[in-house]
Amino acid sequence: MSADRVIHPETFPASLCGMITVAPEMQALFELVRRAARSDATVLVRGESGTGKELVAAAIHEQSPRASHPFRAVNCATFTPELLASELFGHVRGAFTGAFADRRGLLATADGGTLFLDEVAELPLELQARLLRVLQVRRFTPVGGTEELEVDVRIVSATNAALRKLVAQGRFREDLMYRIRVVVLYLPRLVERTGDLEALTWHFIDEFNQRGPRRIHAIDQAAWAAMRAYPWPGNVRELRNNIEAASVLGEGPVLRLEELAPELRSPGTEELAELSSAGSSGGGLPRTTLEEERYRELLEAFHREGGHRGRMAERLGISRATLYRRLKRHGLI
Ligand SMILES: Nc1ncnc2c1ncn2[C@@H]1O[C@H](COP(=O)(O)OP(=O)(O)OP(=O)(O)O)[C@@H](O)[C@H]1O
Ligand SMILES: [Mg+2]
Repeated sequence: MSADRVIHPETFPASLCGMITVAPEMQALFELVRRAARSDATVLVRGESGTGKELVAAAIHEQSPRASHPFRAVNCATFTPELLASELFGHVRGAFTGAFADRRGLLATADGGTLFLDEVAELPLELQARLLRVLQVRRFTPVGGTEELEVDVRIVSATNAALRKLVAQGRFREDLMYRIRVVVLYLPRLVERTGDLEALTWHFIDEFNQRGPRRIHAIDQAAWAAMRAYPWPGNVRELRNNIEAASVLGEGPVLRLEELAPELRSPGTEELAELSSAGSSGGGLPRTTLEEERYRELLEAFHREGGHRGRMAERLGISRATLYRRLKRHGLI
């Protein structure tokens, strides 16, 4: 059964600036990110919600010759047009009610570095014209100002909407679209990344195990079946949230189906849960094939004796020193 799949040493993930993957599709993307980073080209990152667009933008910056300069990010969907203008271009004193002093915008503070425009499709038309000028002649005027300022900023944008469609609807300038989509990087959905559900699950389990107090060391078969069946519309972020919630709210070394978000627990997976609790002795997805049997015994003893070492050793018929060594080897302490 798929839940018995294990992580072999040779599947150790590739990593790039906080992103990890074992999927060939993503490793190819990492290579494109490295290549794009070497240039100053304007990059558009395409991908669904939670696929890691911001991490890719940050990676482009960190791998680029601009790395020692600032990386600034702004989400174009979270501001009113007026506030976004001020956020991007800055403003001069008295430009509008409440503008008590000059304020530098993100373009100015990102000078020499990279500016990441998240959800660029939401950029209001009026600001699109001003951004176009930044890309064309590297100049902009702060809100309420008269003087044009020069700026040297690389623009990386992201969207999960097709800009072409918005251009057809008159909501996005065609000339700007061509300026910001010089290099386009497509981030696959989580379910399209071969092997990444498993690799990322353990990656996040490791992360939250370190934060403690819970330490998860195996995934219940029913939980794993549910995770594999689920389409993950919120992609990597949704997976991370599920692991974090389980780590905070659940108990014991085995991640269980009932600890996952309700949307993962469809009727089909409840049946699987019953099946697996009837037939299995605990750990569903061991981390290594080495001594898998012992690992399961250990987990079972752990459960039955509530983690009491003396009683666990007795149940397993081994000395406390051996128990200690095994617990340690399997990462249970
Ligand atoms: N390959 C990866 N490895 C590790 N963590 C990842 C990976 N991809 C994404 N994440 C994590 O998933 C979460 C979402 O990533 P990010 O914010 O970059 O996605 P996004 O595409 O910008 O999402 P949104 O469309 O919602 O803005 C973050 O917590 C990030 O750390
Ligand atoms: Mg984002």
